Amino acid sequence: MLEAKIQDESRQGEAFAPFAADPNTYAKKFYIESYGCAMNFSDSEIVASILQEKGFGATRNSEEADLILVNTCSIREKAEQTVRKRLTEFRKLKDARPGTLVGVLGCMAERLKSKLLEEEKLVDMVVGPDAYRTLPGLIEEAESGQKAVNVLLSREETYADIAPVRLDSNGITAFVSIMRGCNNMCSFCVVPFTRGRERSRDAQSIVAECRELFEKGYKEVTLLGQNVDSYYFTPEGKNEKPITFAELLEMVALVSPELRVRFSTSHPKDITDDVLHTMAKYENICKCIHLPVQSGSSRILQLMNRTYTREWYIAKVNRIREIMPDCSITSDVITGFCSETEDDHLETISIMEYSKYDISYMYFYSVRPGTLAHRRYEDDVPLEVKKRRLAEVVEVQNRLSKESYRNDIGKTFKVLIEGNSKRSEHDWAGRNSQNKVVVFPKGNHAYQKGDYVMVKVKDATQATLLGDIVA
Ligand code: SAM
Ligand code: SF4
Ligand code: F3S
Repeated sequence: MLEAKIQDESRQGEAFAPFAADPNTYAKKFYIESYGCAMNFSDSEIVASILQEKGFGATRNSEEADLILVNTCSIREKAEQTVRKRLTEFRKLKDARPGTLVGVLGCMAERLKSKLLEEEKLVDMVVGPDAYRTLPGLIEEAESGQKAVNVLLSREETYADIAPVRLDSNGITAFVSIMRGCNNMCSFCVVPFTRGRERSRDAQSIVAECRELFEKGYKEVTLLGQNVDSYYFTPEGKNEKPITFAELLEMVALVSPELRVRFSTSHPKDITDDVLHTMAKYENICKCIHLPVQSGSSRILQLMNRTYTREWYIAKVNRIREIMPDCSITSDVITGFCSETEDDHLETISIMEYSKYDISYMYFYSVRPGTLAHRRYEDDVPLEVKKRRLAEVVEVQNRLSKESYRNDIGKTFKVLIEGNSKRSEHDWAGRNSQNKVVVFPKGNHAYQKGDYVMVKVKDATQATLLGDIVA
């Protein structure tokens, strides 16, 4: 698998169907499948809430659904191909069950607009990421045979007042969206076009959602945004001061010391000392930063419009290590961007080695129509070179991950139990503050899912720490 991701905790590209406690209490059933980043999975929970209000209960079985929704991703060509294949399958299902509605949501809906409906006749509804509130009306339009399309992007929509319906939840960890859109315009990236301008959600509504989750038994929230460090919310009222990301982090950390706080994604140009000091100050803010480097070459970073250099990035890594020596750092890497030479590629490898990433998500460059790179630069690195370079960075990362996990042998971590391990119901699985999965025998202890437990690591694979409970 060359379009490689290792230990992809963000579930990118994975389909999922929701769990409904009792779908029969609703007049109709909907089925939803999500692709792409955590933001998309989080959006599906907002969609589920809007649909429940409209009288639709969730089902895991697409064949019994009155409404099938696919929440899509456009980040790379392969992501779109996967969705297209899925939509074709649902088209066939619809032919066998006339009356079933099929809708496309998310970034591909926004990028392709009505094309999937009018030209390709794959779906009945096309709904962009800022138009989910209009779903009830669009469903009615589609039911009466009209074209149901809303891909308007908004400068204000944050869905702040909608209580998400937690789908496929373990009841312990949850995503909380804190902002939408992105103003960064990295030249390779389609997100600013599919998600629109950046806007921050009301801080009080974020804290209220986290508090409510905690009261329901959740023990970990992940604050989500494409660039969380540029969170900036100005409350209404004359003397109200704007709230920065560092301040928001503190507000959420103070909900309870028993509630873990994570966040994703940080942009190297925006993460501040204030954020790092806030992380260091609160034990319940997890010591893990996703700091995508993309490339180790300053020349390529400039073409990517990342607005930092190799040296700036290295200085950030140094600062993180200085303030929080135990903090894990993870990254995203793109190989074969326009004009990338062998020397540029070697610089990427050397910055990975310098940063000692615990985990990286690695991709070869995929041209996205309409982006700056598509308009300005030639996609001139041959596919086999992109793939060979990807294989090389994957190999480097595998080695770094192995080293990072082996270095933890002998250490004791506080682990939040998330459930049974995949392999055995006699073992618990959870994560430590650094976001590493820890598996350990339940033994005779009376611990439950959602408990914190101290675990001493005695062995490690490339992606899992194995240990024993210590008193
Ligand atoms: N906002 C985050 C950031 O700035 O890093 C995440 C953006 S995107 C959802 C996740 C990752 O996909 C990016 O960090 C980048 O490595 C990768 N990516 C984005 N566009 C790509 C493209 N055209 N080809 C290959 N990988 C891409
Ligand atoms: Fe895309 Fe860059 Fe925005 Fe991330 S920061 S979503 S890579 S434009
Ligand atoms: Fe994909 Fe859109 Fe997320 S393009 S990665 S689903 S913001």
